[in-house]
Amino acid sequence: MIREVLRMGDPRLLQKAQPVAQFGTAELAALLADMRDTMAHHNGAGLAAPQIGVDLRVAIFGVRANPRYPRAEEVPDTVLINPVIEPLAADQEEDWEGCLSVPGMRGMVPRFRYLRYAGFDEQGRRFERVVEGFHARVVQHECDHLDGILYPMHIRDLRKFGFNEALFPDQELPLE
Ligand code: NI
Repeated sequence: MIREVLRMGDPRLLQKAQPVAQFGTAELAALLADMRDTMAHHNGAGLAAPQIGVDLRVAIFGVRANPRYPRAEEVPDTVLINPVIEPLAADQEEDWEGCLSVPGMRGMVPRFRYLRYAGFDEQGRRFERVVEGFHARVVQHECDHLDGILYPMHIRDLRKFGFNEALFPDQELPLE
């Protein structure tokens, strides 16, 4: 079921979400089905449970290669629960981000370039990945949602924050 996505300004987006305690449940499966439906409906690259008003440390993300967005690297479809992120170097890089909770806008956000992340899938199986670049960016964006952080809070130069059509006239837009 497609759920309403909360928008920036809603205090539920600013909470630290609670860890999932039970895996493999019908409730968790239903939550993930709703999150997938909602993300697909909005053509998102990722979605965190707090964005649909569910106070749990659950995120999904995934980006397929798309010729319309040659800069968007492929990211595997992933369910990430109770995640832990560890930056592997101090290097940061800036790039444009969007968010389904900040519709129609983009901002230039610094993120760690290299990181290791670990977490659990819906069955409670632990996994760990070492990633960089766009994949690392997506993970940091989604995990921020679980701590009540939205990407505009990271923008260093607010001149690089604005509406899609004004920032990128006549261009195909990158994913949100
Ligand atoms: Ni977001």
